[in-house]
Amino acid sequence: MQHHELLFAPFKGLTDRRYRNALARHFGGYDAMYAPFISGVGQERINPSKLDDVVPLEENLAPTVPQFISTEAREIILFGKTFQQHGYDHINWNLGCPFSRIANKKRGCGMLPYPEELDRILNDVFKEFPIKLSIKTRLGYYKQGEILKVLEVLNQYPIHLLIIHARIGTQIYSGEVNLEGFKDCLSVSKNPVAYNGDIYHLARLREMQDLFPQVNTWMLGRGALINPFLAMEIRGVFISEAEKRRKLYAFHQELLEGGRRVAVNQARLLGSMKAVWYYLSGVLENGTEVFSRIKKTRTILDYQVLIENELQRPFANEAALENYFRKGVKHRGI
Ligand SMILES: Cc1cc2nc3c(=O)[nH]c(=O)nc-3n(C[C@H](O)[C@H](O)[C@H](O)COP(=O)(O)O)c2cc1C
Repeated sequence: MQHHELLFAPFKGLTDRRYRNALARHFGGYDAMYAPFISGVGQERINPSKLDDVVPLEENLAPTVPQFISTEAREIILFGKTFQQHGYDHINWNLGCPFSRIANKKRGCGMLPYPEELDRILNDVFKEFPIKLSIKTRLGYYKQGEILKVLEVLNQYPIHLLIIHARIGTQIYSGEVNLEGFKDCLSVSKNPVAYNGDIYHLARLREMQDLFPQVNTWMLGRGALINPFLAMEIRGVFISEAEKRRKLYAFHQELLEGGRRVAVNQARLLGSMKAVWYYLSGVLENGTEVFSRIKKTRTILDYQVLIENELQRPFANEAALENYFRKGVKHRGI
């Protein structure tokens, strides 16, 4: 049977090394985990503190791919050389971030309307880029067709992997994914393409695999934040409910203990755990109500007592996972 690669998506502000390591330790199933982006500042050297999330390489439990955001060839080469020195052989360029403060500077998906400029940058980058370069992008910034011209440019370069989130930038993370638009990319790209977007349960992945039989690399995002068992299940590992509860508890406990070591105060620690449960509540039945109870806790002690109770609840079925993903996660704030 064809081996399908599973990648864990980056989430700035959430999936730092503590999160990625806890996920890898208690659930696993990923071929690689992508780290949230590091931005350059156009200087001759990358500030070492920016590398803390991914360096040293040995402190990553799962194979990790650092990600950067930049528009300058000189800086991109510097990222390549810096990560090579730290033992990495592959880094990822973020050409997908949709937020206007980034995209307005032609960063993230803001570069997609300018294929000629991208061509000039890549031409310089590949003169001396020392390691593998992959790209994470979208179908466009303002309109879906934008990616097609970009792909023609990328076809001239050895892009290790092109991960395409099947939305445009102005959709941010909501609205439907455009599967026809993704299909067009497959027919144009000569570089290997991975699919990303709205894989919220196992059946949905199977649907995508049937639609795109030529794709064998899949990036899981919010679906895996909601259901950390997703990658295991895709790998065919199903465990008892009791074992699932035990793993979830251990996962939360590792994040809490790790958070305690770095959080400046209780409110920050609680805030960081609520950010985790904003997604994770959806793995339990009636996840929206679970999250609203978690959101109301004011002390770590209350939070801990509540979590022990909530973890006795039944798990969400596939319909509930999809519902939480579609209706919940995109529209609520914490
Ligand atoms: C809060 C948040 C932070 C994100 N941070 C990053 C990031 O640092 N780098 C990146 O490439 N994508 C980032 N993304 C996008 C996700 O990696 C992923 O592409 C997106 O959620 C679509 O996949 P999904 O539908 O499976 O969640 C972020 C998304 C969210 C919601």
